[in-house]
Amino acid sequence: MGELFKIAGPVVTGEKMAGAKMYDVVKVGGLKLIGEIIRLDGDRATIQVYEDTSGLKPGENVENTELPLTVELGPGLLESIYDGIQRPLKEIMAKTGNFIGRGVTANAIDKQKKWEFAPVKKKGDKVKAGDIIGTVQETGIIEHKIMVPHGVEGEIQEIKKGKFNVEETVCIVKGAKSGKHEIAMMQRWEVRKPRPYNEKLPPNTPLVTGQRILDTFFPIAKGGTGAIPGPFGSGKTVTQQSLAKWSDAQIIVYIGCGERGNEMTEVLSEFPELLDPKTKKPLMQRTVLIANTSNMPVAAREASVYTGITIAEYYRDMGYDVALMADSTSRWAEAMREISGRLEEMPGEEGYPTYLSRRLAEFYERAGRIIAIGSPERTGSISVIGAVSPPGGDVSEPVSQNTLRVTKVFWALDAKLAQRRHFPAINWLKSYSLYTNTLGPEFVKDVSADWEDNRRKAMALLQKEAELQEIVQLVGPDALPEKEQSILDVTRMIREDYLQQSAFSDIDASSSLKKQAKMLSTILRFYNKSADAIELGVQLKDIKTLKVREAIARMKEIPESEFGKKSGEIVSEIDSQFEKLVKGLGR
Ligand SMILES: Nc1ncnc2c1ncn2[C@@H]1O[C@H](COP(=O)(O)OP(=O)(O)OP(=O)(O)O)[C@@H](O)[C@H]1O
Ligand SMILES: [Mg+2]
Repeated sequence: MGELFKIAGPVVTGEKMAGAKMYDVVKVGGLKLIGEIIRLDGDRATIQVYEDTSGLKPGENVENTELPLTVELGPGLLESIYDGIQRPLKEIMAKTGNFIGRGVTANAIDKQKKWEFAPVKKKGDKVKAGDIIGTVQETGIIEHKIMVPHGVEGEIQEIKKGKFNVEETVCIVKGAKSGKHEIAMMQRWEVRKPRPYNEKLPPNTPLVTGQRILDTFFPIAKGGTGAIPGPFGSGKTVTQQSLAKWSDAQIIVYIGCGERGNEMTEVLSEFPELLDPKTKKPLMQRTVLIANTSNMPVAAREASVYTGITIAEYYRDMGYDVALMADSTSRWAEAMREISGRLEEMPGEEGYPTYLSRRLAEFYERAGRIIAIGSPERTGSISVIGAVSPPGGDVSEPVSQNTLRVTKVFWALDAKLAQRRHFPAINWLKSYSLYTNTLGPEFVKDVSADWEDNRRKAMALLQKEAELQEIVQLVGPDALPEKEQSILDVTRMIREDYLQQSAFSDIDASSSLKKQAKMLSTILRFYNKSADAIELGVQLKDIKTLKVREAIARMKEIPESEFGKKSGEIVSEIDSQFEKLVKGLGR
C-alpha cells in the first residue's frame, strides 16, 4: 500500500509504490478515488485521478489494484450511458444525484440481468479465440455474439443453453496445455491496447450518410476516418448526430468529450428520445453513449476516447459496422494539455504535449475495416469521425493540424455559411475526401452510371462560381456574358436545392443515394438545356421565369417512395419548357 505524497489538481503523487507498473489502476485516499499511474520514478508514482481530488491529504493511502484500466464487454453495453471510465451514469446519478459523488462504484454491465444464451457450438467442437460460441438478443435490433476470449483455445466440454447473467459460465473449454476455461458472456479488455484482428481490408465500401454534400462530394468509407473542424455554432454536433441517425453503420458509439455543459445534458436527454429511422425503435438500442460533462475531471475525458474505441472494437469483432463519433476531440486534447502541464512536461506547440500528434494518430489508427479473428469468417469496421473545435475557427492550430494529418476526410464547417443559414455549413471548396477515387466506381456500380461524371461536373461548376463571384464583386453581375450568368444561376440551384439539407426536416434529413443521383442529374439537365438555349439566343431572364424551377427547388421534400415517378415528371417538364422557349424565339 502506497502513501499520498503530493496533490496537484487531477494529478497526484504516491510514494512507497514499489512494484507498480505504468497504467496500473489505483485507488486513492479514503474515498478510493480511481486513478491511473502515468509516470514512475523509483517507488514514486504519478497518478491521474478520474475524480475530483479536492480534500485529499498527503499521507492518505494509495492502493494499487495492479490491473490496467479495463472495460467490461458483454450484453448490456447497448443502451448504456457511461462516463469516461465506464461508470454507468444513470445508476450513479440514482445513487448520488446529478452531481456525481466521489468514490462511487457501480457495475458497468448489469450483473443480475439474465440473458437468453443460444449456443451455436456443441460439446466436442474445437474452438479458439474469437470464435463465436453463441448469441444473445441484446436489444430489439442487435444480436450480440459471444466470442471465445483471447488466450483461450481447446475443446468444448460443456455448453449451456438458457437464461444466464453475464458472469455465469455458459461454456467450458478444455485446452490441451492450458487446462480448463470457464467462459461467461462478459469479458474484459484493456482500453489502451487495440483489440487484435486478422487482417485489415482496404476501405472500399462507402459509409452511406444520407447527407448529400457528404455522400456526393466528400464520401467516407466504412472503416474510414474523418474530421469535422468548425467554429462555435457551425454545426459539429448536429452533423455528428445526423451521422449517428442516418449513416448505415449498425452500431453507434458516441463520445461527448465535455463540450459545453448544457450541450452534453442535451445529448443525454435527447439521445434516448431519438428513433432509429430504419427500425423505428429507439436509436439507443444500437448505441453506446459516453458522456463527459464539463464539470467532470479532465482525466476522465482523456480516458473516454479509449473506453469508447475499445467498445467499438468489440462490436467490430462481432462483424458489425460501427461508427464512432467524438465531439469534440479538442476537449480531449485540452485534457492532455492540462495533465501534461501538471506533470511539468516540456510543452510543445501552444502548450500541448509533444506527444499530441502521436496520441491522435494512435486513436484514429484504431479505425478500419477488418477481418475478425475466429470463425465464422466475418468483416467488421469502425469508422471514426472526430469533431474539432479550433478556437476562433482557425484550423492552423495544433489539434486541427495533427488531426488532418491522420484523417482521410475533411469536412470543413464554415462560419459564414452557418451565418447565412446554409446547412450543413460544409464548405465545398475547402473540404476533401481521399476516398473519392476508391468509392466513385462503387457508386457508379451500385447507384447510377453517371454518378462520377455528374459529381465532377457539379464540382467544376461550383469552382467556376467562386471565380466568377470574384469578377462580379469587381464589376457587378451584368458585366458577365449570359452564358456565365447562367452558370451562377445553376450553381445557386446546386447550393440551395441540392447542398442545403436540414437535419430537422422530416423528409429531407436523409436522402438515399438514388435520390441524390437523380436530384443532381435533374439540376444538371436544367443546366445543359439552359446553356443550349442561351447558345440559340434565349435570354437568361426568360429562363429565370420557367415554372419548373419551383419543382426543382421542392425536389428535396418529395418522399423517397414517390421520388422515382415525380422526378421523371420534372425531367419531362424541363424538356418541354425549354422547348417552348426555343420555339418562341422565331416569333
Ligand atoms: N444540418 C443542419 N440542418 C439544420 N440546422 C443546422 C444544421 N447544422 C447546424 N444547424 C444549426 O446550427 C446550430 C448550431 O449547430 P451545432 O450545435 O451543431 O454547432 P456546434 O458546431 O456543435 O457548436 P459548438 O461549438 O457550440 O458545440 C444548430 O442548433 C442548428 O440550428
Ligand atoms: Mg457542439
